[in-house]
Amino acid sequence: MPKRSAGGRSTKKNTTIKRKSKKAEAVRYAFPKGFLWGAATSAHQVEGNNIHSDWWQWEQKKNTVKNGDRSGMATDHYSKFKEDFDIAQKLSHNAHRLSIEWSRIEPEEGKWDTDAIAHYHAVFQVLKERNMSIMLTLYHFTLPQWMADKGGWEYSAAIDRFNRFVQLCATEYGEYVDYWITINEPLVFVRQAYGIGEWPPQYHNPFKAWRVARTLAKAHIAAYKTLHAQLDRTGRQVMVGIAKNQKSFSTSVKKLADFIALRIADYTWNDWFYKKTKHAHDFIGVNYYFHQRLERRGLFFMQAVSVDEKGDRPVSSMRWEIFAPGLLDVLFDLQRYNKPIFITENGLATENDAMRSQYIVSHVKEMYHAVHAGVDVRGYFHWSLLDNFEWSEGFTPRFGLVGVSYKTGRRTIHNSARVYAGIAASNGITDDILQTTPII
Ligand code: BGC
Repeated sequence: MPKRSAGGRSTKKNTTIKRKSKKAEAVRYAFPKGFLWGAATSAHQVEGNNIHSDWWQWEQKKNTVKNGDRSGMATDHYSKFKEDFDIAQKLSHNAHRLSIEWSRIEPEEGKWDTDAIAHYHAVFQVLKERNMSIMLTLYHFTLPQWMADKGGWEYSAAIDRFNRFVQLCATEYGEYVDYWITINEPLVFVRQAYGIGEWPPQYHNPFKAWRVARTLAKAHIAAYKTLHAQLDRTGRQVMVGIAKNQKSFSTSVKKLADFIALRIADYTWNDWFYKKTKHAHDFIGVNYYFHQRLERRGLFFMQAVSVDEKGDRPVSSMRWEIFAPGLLDVLFDLQRYNKPIFITENGLATENDAMRSQYIVSHVKEMYHAVHAGVDVRGYFHWSLLDNFEWSEGFTPRFGLVGVSYKTGRRTIHNSARVYAGIAASNGITDDILQTTPII
């Protein structure tokens, strides 16, 4: 029977409208209550004027960042954070992941900057006023320049110095932070900075890479212990983990050697760091961007490729292959650690906003399948809230749900941000979104 309108009369027209809007609201892929929906950023990529960090110094040299870009004022999030969090709130985000810039807090060894400390108090308060859960990263690729001068992660006191900073963060910000990420993508950093030598300090040395990877594992364990030692007594639940880049690997060749290569790649990239830091994770943070096919080049040479060289899959503007089912593989693999899982990053660089919407819906749908197969996924943070400084790629790649004009600082909320807002607001993917956003 058609429902009656407020005035008591039922007309065919308003019945159709009612039915349509009811249908539009149906949540086809619903997530558990309390699921976190947000976006992620990192300090150096958005704040601007981050003059005491090693990246800032490095950018000033020639031929470091593409097109001679320098982070400069970046998106000026340091002064516009309120405006940016207003946008996130308007977009129905109930959580936000961000990083704190160590080089602002401790611009000189052992000297704490009280203004910078107060600044982050303001940042966290603004997020809490907007009812957003906070996930805080303590190290996201940038070091204070003084620490880099002493050898960075090779400095004999590196773990101790990092731990001292962690301790300060626990004391100052323990009351706001819901999830602590000690280190962002340890192995991406090691690969870029010590393996292929693209990021500062630009070493191309496997031994150093190995040493630094081990140091980062120890630094994580030390920070994990410090956060618990300091915050458990407050009675708040303390959740500590890392954000780890996980890849979905595959190979089309079925020879034993290929299979072994696949296992080695999978173990080294996806599992080794977790094995090294066993018992120091309250949750697993997953940054998912890559599906890599291992292909044979010549007789012995195996190569991992993330671009779709055959052209049969869509790619981002950075030519990274888009493969949403890989997220499902990664999540199933991580189930063995028996911990809550958060997607701490997932996103793409593109100037094609319709593609970003499709990317989001496709990945969220895969995440849904994982959740409903029993994987304990508790939240999703899209990379990124804002366009930002993409490390050695500079400002060209556009990762933002919200576009930023680097000339005027103007923010533009993309349609994809609204699609994602629809998912966040309904805690799942509605029929309406599915009907208007094709899966890729
Ligand atoms: C990093 C971000 C980076 C993003 C896109 C992740 O590896 O954590 O800092 O901007 O991927 O490349």
